[in-house]
Amino acid sequence: MSDTQTMSVTPLDAPAGAKVTGVDLSQPLNHENGEGILDALAEHGVLVFPDQNLTPEQQVEFSRLFGEVEINHNAARFGIEGSPEIYIISNVTKDGKPIGSSRAGEEWHSDMCYAKRPARATMLYAVEVPTLHGMTLGDTAFANAAAAWDALPDEMRDRIRDLRAVFDFTKRKRPYVPDAETIAKYPPVDHPMVRRHPRTGRLGLYVMKVDSTSVVGMEQEDARRLIDALSDHIIKPRFVYRHQWTPRDLVVWDNCTVQHKAIVDYDHPQRRLMWRTTIRGDVPV
Ligand code: SIN
Repeated sequence: MSDTQTMSVTPLDAPAGAKVTGVDLSQPLNHENGEGILDALAEHGVLVFPDQNLTPEQQVEFSRLFGEVEINHNAARFGIEGSPEIYIISNVTKDGKPIGSSRAGEEWHSDMCYAKRPARATMLYAVEVPTLHGMTLGDTAFANAAAAWDALPDEMRDRIRDLRAVFDFTKRKRPYVPDAETIAKYPPVDHPMVRRHPRTGRLGLYVMKVDSTSVVGMEQEDARRLIDALSDHIIKPRFVYRHQWTPRDLVVWDNCTVQHKAIVDYDHPQRRLMWRTTIRGDVPV
């Protein structure tokens, strides 16, 4: 049916993101719309598809457009039966037990930056969105790391162009220290601080205050100062789009172009329930 609709991509009035309408993601996509979505994601970093009615299977099927869908190492706990690719992000409990990961992504980050092959893209489908006194809570903020690179002074660009940041779970102190299994699964890795987008060739900053723990070949004190300065630069308001969710929004983001952060400004009895899929990426260059 999507063959008979006209898909439309409208840039948001924001430093990142576009809204995509005229496409029903519960149905198979035609080639033209599929390529249009891949191009739009590479260009805008975040795509918002409002008012989608999706089953877990349909979300997984749409996720395959972007590549191989990962199964989270915690899927046995927070997956969906029959669709282990879906990882539940939620503060909802059932029989006193959490049905999903409730504190995912509270710090600015890019998904799976600590892996040798970080996630290419991530998708969240809003099943339940928390509200209080008519106000919507539980937004997700996105920072355009490519625009942040563009805005750097030449002097800083020359200084960092060839540097590599280290991601080392054993050095993580806050907001939580990963468990021994996670540390063993993800040994320290380093990635270019300035990444080239695999589809557009556009450069973007790839450094985060919590996850980047040092810089290859740099004294730790200098490295920490540099990591902090660049991380703070990326999340300046002029680079940030904050998405306020509506139930049935499907949002996909490109982890090379944007960093993101969950705004946890809600608590029980407000309920937030999201289905997440993550798409495997390449080794950053
Ligand atoms: C995440 O970082 O994957 C979760 C973001 C959110 O829940 O808003």
